[in-house]
Amino acid sequence: MHIRPRRNRKSAAIRQMVEETKIGAEHLIYPIFLKDGKNIKEEISSLPKNYRWSIDQLLPELEACMKLGIMTYDMFPAVDDHLKDTLATYSYAEENFYLHAIRKIKETFPEIVLMSDVAMDPYSSDGHDGFVSNGRILNDETLPILNKMSLAQAQAGIDIIGPSDMMDGRVGSIRETLDINGFTDVSIMSYTAKYASAFYGPFRDALNSAPKHGDKKTYQMNPANKREAILEAELDFEEGADMLMVKPALCYLDIIHVLRENFNVPITAYNVSGECAMVYAAAEKGWLNYDMAISEILLSMRRAGADGILTYFAKDFATLLKK
Ligand code: PBG
Repeated sequence: MHIRPRRNRKSAAIRQMVEETKIGAEHLIYPIFLKDGKNIKEEISSLPKNYRWSIDQLLPELEACMKLGIMTYDMFPAVDDHLKDTLATYSYAEENFYLHAIRKIKETFPEIVLMSDVAMDPYSSDGHDGFVSNGRILNDETLPILNKMSLAQAQAGIDIIGPSDMMDGRVGSIRETLDINGFTDVSIMSYTAKYASAFYGPFRDALNSAPKHGDKKTYQMNPANKREAILEAELDFEEGADMLMVKPALCYLDIIHVLRENFNVPITAYNVSGECAMVYAAAEKGWLNYDMAISEILLSMRRAGADGILTYFAKDFATLLKK
């Protein structure tokens, strides 16, 4: 035998020297759930170790996470039912607590990077990402609402807008709105290949945002499709997206890979709530080693080609890296 691959694995130092994929806290984006009020830190039952935070409780938590090297956070609002309506008007209302929280966080930690979610569902009495009329999700009627929401978030100081709604043409529409209002420096990370997935359950529990009727299959992608992800990416890229996201991540590593090979903008992966919940549950039962499992999962996303990774494991994994 002339070629023995095991020689490159014979010691820890050699293994590290030839290691192809690196991952650090700088690659992590931490999703955070916000709630109006004071002194709130409510654990989400289907997503243990994750909480709905009021801003006063969240600030020290962010500080602790930044010390671990996590600099980017994706913020989601848990909105009271009585504030929801068919047009998601609270999403851009003056008194919206989420917008106030963004202002407060950016004031307190100017170096932090804050990302938002743009879609109607947390604010919609229908629980859909777009405007519903006669049971249909209307595309073009949704765009002006997404524009207003994005503009309000930009005015509050958000760094990255994250359209997660999957309406056609929304990236271009939001980009134009931001630009004509002077927010040319606000980035867009589009949920480009977002699939109609079974893995969003715990997130919808966290925000109480599940659709009141029907499903999201007329706007989110069919899990069977890969070429369609390239079409979505072409459109988002042409419309001005700065980064392209694949969501979920774990069942869609091939999609991350194909976008990485074909587009010269950063690719991100959303390791969604259900994917993390599976690991929490198995680890709790002692069926797998939590630290080893999350390390392997996050590494696999980097190896597939993700630059940044949105994950509920962010704090635990950054803590592990420090050890
Ligand atoms: C809302 C949105 C969802 C997620 C992020 N933004 C849920 C959905 O589309 O139903 C899911 C995130 C997760 O499961 O962690 N448009």
